[in-house]
Amino acid sequence: MKTTVKTICNFILITVISCSNSERQGGITGSSANRDNQETEITYVPGMSLCKAASYPVGVAVSAEKLGDSRYAGVVRREFNSVTAENQMKMAYISVAPGKYDWERADAIVAYAEKNNTRVHGHALLWHESLPPWVENFEGTDEEFEAEIKTYIQAVVEHFKGKVASWDVVNEAIEEDGSWRNTVFLQHMGEDYVARCFRWAREADPGVLLFYNDFNLSSNPVKAQAAADMLKGFQDRGVPVDGVGMQMHIQVETPAISKIADAVNIFTEMGLIVHFSEIDTRLNADDKLTELTYEAALAQENRLGEIVDMYNTIPESQQYGITFWGLRDNESWLLSRYGTDWPLLFTETYEYKIAHRGVIRAFE
Ligand code: XIL
Repeated sequence: MKTTVKTICNFILITVISCSNSERQGGITGSSANRDNQETEITYVPGMSLCKAASYPVGVAVSAEKLGDSRYAGVVRREFNSVTAENQMKMAYISVAPGKYDWERADAIVAYAEKNNTRVHGHALLWHESLPPWVENFEGTDEEFEAEIKTYIQAVVEHFKGKVASWDVVNEAIEEDGSWRNTVFLQHMGEDYVARCFRWAREADPGVLLFYNDFNLSSNPVKAQAAADMLKGFQDRGVPVDGVGMQMHIQVETPAISKIADAVNIFTEMGLIVHFSEIDTRLNADDKLTELTYEAALAQENRLGEIVDMYNTIPESQQYGITFWGLRDNESWLLSRYGTDWPLLFTETYEYKIAHRGVIRAFE
């Protein structure tokens, strides 16, 4: 019964309030359980939405189909002022054949964003895990391969010119030991391919922000240093790069916050903008939980609080914002990969987890 009341209450709140990039004020009245009240609930009724509470954009990974569901879109509208396509701006989705593009789902995401004054972060022009068959099994020469990749990057960037604020130009080009990942792009184009992709993207849209995006940058100093060295090389050679996306697929206890801060500092000291681009927190890496306990939910609330506190220390001009990799726990990509977990801010029935409160409190 209690759950039903809360769910209805949340639904009423979300249908009336939305965020825009320019607003940051005003709360929504609603009772908020207090940590001191011997609370045991894993969900709560929010007093404020994420994007209203934050001084920088707060994003979520979405799909066109999900945004077509009014209830889902209502929560996204209320809570987030930035969106990233979880998959639908990747090459395997857009590139049907050389010179042939399917824009439909990506355009639907942009249409949602335009209607709701929401920023779109483009993800990702090149990623070795999202290859259309013609790229994976390319039969022409290396020169022909490179010409097709340049055409693809420039076609996509031009298509979304003025609509997408930023792009992850290359995603995950570096291995854990700091070496180049042996992708089809490296094989056909050689080690300097990342730099060339950034130049092509900038040529196609001088106004779009360009990011390098990768995982484990906050947990693996060797990888973070390799990324920093690559980006420093770009800066020295005049290769256009604006920022770094630290994916932040993290666990509830690791990496230690000091380690995350060390990695962030490497990039901020280089003058780069930092995006926490794909946040989720695994609570059940050791597979001991079969349901979300209050203790685990509280640990997640505190963990997200410390992550956002850390992010808040970044100079304002270098804060691109933070993006959660999905809305509800049941949608997370981690479930099919690692098994049962509760990595996000909302339950399957759109209830607000106390993790949401951890983020809000750190914003305030
Ligand atoms: C994931 C999506 O969440 C899944 O739906 C898809 O099956 C595979 O890709 N790093 C990235 C994201 O940069 O694009 C990935 O997204 C998660 C890891």
